[in-house]
Amino acid sequence: MTSTSSPTPLAARAGGPLTGRVRVPGDKSISHRALILAAMTVGETVISGLLEGEDVLNTAAAMRALGARVVRLDNGTWHVHGVGVGGFAEPAAALDFGNSGTGCRLVIGAVAGCGITATFDGDASLRKRPMRRILDPLEQMGARVLDQAEGGRLPLTLKGALDPLPIEYESPVPSAQLKSAVLLAGLAAPGETTVIEAEATRDHTEKLLKHFGAKIVSKPHGDNGRRIVLQGQPELVPAPVLVPADPSSAAFPMVAALLVPGSDVTFEAVMTNPLRTGLFTTLREMGANIEESDKRADGGEEIASYRVRTSKLKGVEVPASRAPSMIDEYLILAVAAAFAEGDTQMRGLKELRVKESDRLEATAAMLRVNGIKVDIEGDDMIVHGMGANGVPGGGEVATHMDHRIAMSALMMGLASQKPVRIDDSAFIATSFPGFVELMKGLGADLS
Ligand code: S3P
Repeated sequence: MTSTSSPTPLAARAGGPLTGRVRVPGDKSISHRALILAAMTVGETVISGLLEGEDVLNTAAAMRALGARVVRLDNGTWHVHGVGVGGFAEPAAALDFGNSGTGCRLVIGAVAGCGITATFDGDASLRKRPMRRILDPLEQMGARVLDQAEGGRLPLTLKGALDPLPIEYESPVPSAQLKSAVLLAGLAAPGETTVIEAEATRDHTEKLLKHFGAKIVSKPHGDNGRRIVLQGQPELVPAPVLVPADPSSAAFPMVAALLVPGSDVTFEAVMTNPLRTGLFTTLREMGANIEESDKRADGGEEIASYRVRTSKLKGVEVPASRAPSMIDEYLILAVAAAFAEGDTQMRGLKELRVKESDRLEATAAMLRVNGIKVDIEGDDMIVHGMGANGVPGGGEVATHMDHRIAMSALMMGLASQKPVRIDDSAFIATSFPGFVELMKGLGADLS
């Protein structure tokens, strides 16, 4: 596992333009959900395009430990033989989710609706992340926490509810993981489980639940929210899943293509779910030349190709209301903002503090060590762009076991005056296997 292997430093330096056509790996959010929900059907589901990153492989291992059969064929498809809703078997050992908050929180939700006991653990980064937010509603549904580290953190042992209760839960934080944990537990409860969110978050769980035959209705709630009602105890039916390319992974080479002079890169089959594409909206507002084509529906999601060419960017204000649709993209946006003319104000970034690292502090540190001025004011971050003066670079960035810091810092190095070095590239494999090779194929100088 990455957490135990020795660090692998890497540096990025400016070189020629980035050019070519690429398809980045499958969407991480959909990959986790496809495995978990397929394991809760009765029968066999075939998943194509699954992200084979460490985070998702840990979820696959957890599904096996809970009694599902999960097999990868040589043609790259994944076959999951589910055990049905409420059918998980008690795992023989602790479930280890490595670096993945999504895998861990979603599986805790799924286990909370079964009368089994399981221990959940992860690496040093995941052990720091808050689990109370999901344990509160799951306890209301009848699950019991038998053991936990201080403050409701991992490792924790949960006894799922034999007869889970349906609840109506108003989510106190905009979190798709929290929403999904409650819905997955609600699958085993009789009657209706309702989640109300004040700000709509990614809706892949809802879409896949429908895909597998559950009755689930999502309606607008207030200005930006949703009210989601799931009818419990469905028989989930296997159905093939096609995982589209991950917009959150495409974000890194896309921004690099905007920044490296003379670049022209096309990204194929990227998911365009509007609850995921806040970064693309923001980059366009900054003046980015991003051309969308070949938009079509595929596997229950809209996908499109994006052609990205080098662009002169200007600073903008990013409203807090956009945060849920680009929550994983602020690091790479901050890199784009560093090269832009003028200031970029990013509002409402509180949730960044509880990701794989404290991303608010880590982003500021990444930029400052490379000569950029950054202010953090409460939950807002202001990046003072260098524009025509260029980004000095030359810094060594601490990645804090966070894949997105690693990739963002490297993208900065491709366009800055001096190389940018990261202390460890190993965690990139949690979400973007083949990242370094893909970037080198486009012409990036990484070594
Ligand atoms: C995810 C939800 C988000 C996001 C994470 C993936 C998901 O986390 O940051 O990378 O797949 O549900 P939160 O639910 O904590 O906002």
